[in-house]
Amino acid sequence: MMTGSHFQIISSSNQVMKTIDVCLSPELLHLYKLEDRTVVVVDILRATSCMVTAFAHGAERIVPFASQEECLQMKTRGYITSGERDGKKVEGFDKGNSPFEYMGFEVAGKKIAFTTTNGTQAIEKSKSAREIIIGSFLNLSSITKYLLFSHNNILVVCAGWKGKVNLEDTLFAGALVERLKNHIEPDCDAPLAAQRLYNLAKDNMVEFLSTSSHVKRLQRLNIQKDIEFCLTPDQYTVIPKLVRGELVC
Ligand code: MLT
Repeated sequence: MMTGSHFQIISSSNQVMKTIDVCLSPELLHLYKLEDRTVVVVDILRATSCMVTAFAHGAERIVPFASQEECLQMKTRGYITSGERDGKKVEGFDKGNSPFEYMGFEVAGKKIAFTTTNGTQAIEKSKSAREIIIGSFLNLSSITKYLLFSHNNILVVCAGWKGKVNLEDTLFAGALVERLKNHIEPDCDAPLAAQRLYNLAKDNMVEFLSTSSHVKRLQRLNIQKDIEFCLTPDQYTVIPKLVRGELVC
């Protein structure tokens, strides 16, 4: 059905159906309109998995930064600083990018300033969205429920790797499309491609991703434990949301 200048998809119960789209790399964001959407930013390995873990362990807020310098300055304001580039902790920062660094008393009640190679850059680039939430396999069911009841159309923004597409973020997007498929219409072929990939991978995502580029990169850093944890669905129920430039729960 056409209303004004927009096509709208009508469900069998005669209601306008929400749509879901997937931006496979932040380099493609200029193709999408963000202003009317809930954007789910995802960087499975490992930035958004760390953020979700930190909130599940009581972190008070996380301020994401694209720049290392600005992030590091937050130390003077009492923030824990987290800095990762190319998978490694950056010198001078308190923490790197392993979810196991964001558990327990180390983060409970703390404010964290965070900068990573791709994850925090993707958040920065999505800032014109109506709403930004943080997704990972660790909070998959909570994110699914939240999106189901929200009124906005949805865009999953995959952080990728330095502008290139990666498999793990695409699989997360596919998991969301699969779970929402009876309620939300895909906007184009990217959600369908992601959904099909996820269905191929879902029974053993660790094995499916074993030859993927970032898994190989992280394996060189000896962090198989991080990979397995970040691919485990539904460890936590938190939904981090960006409010005036800060992530809160
Ligand atoms: C990133 O933001 O690029 C990543 O989370 C990289 C990493 O695994 O440390």
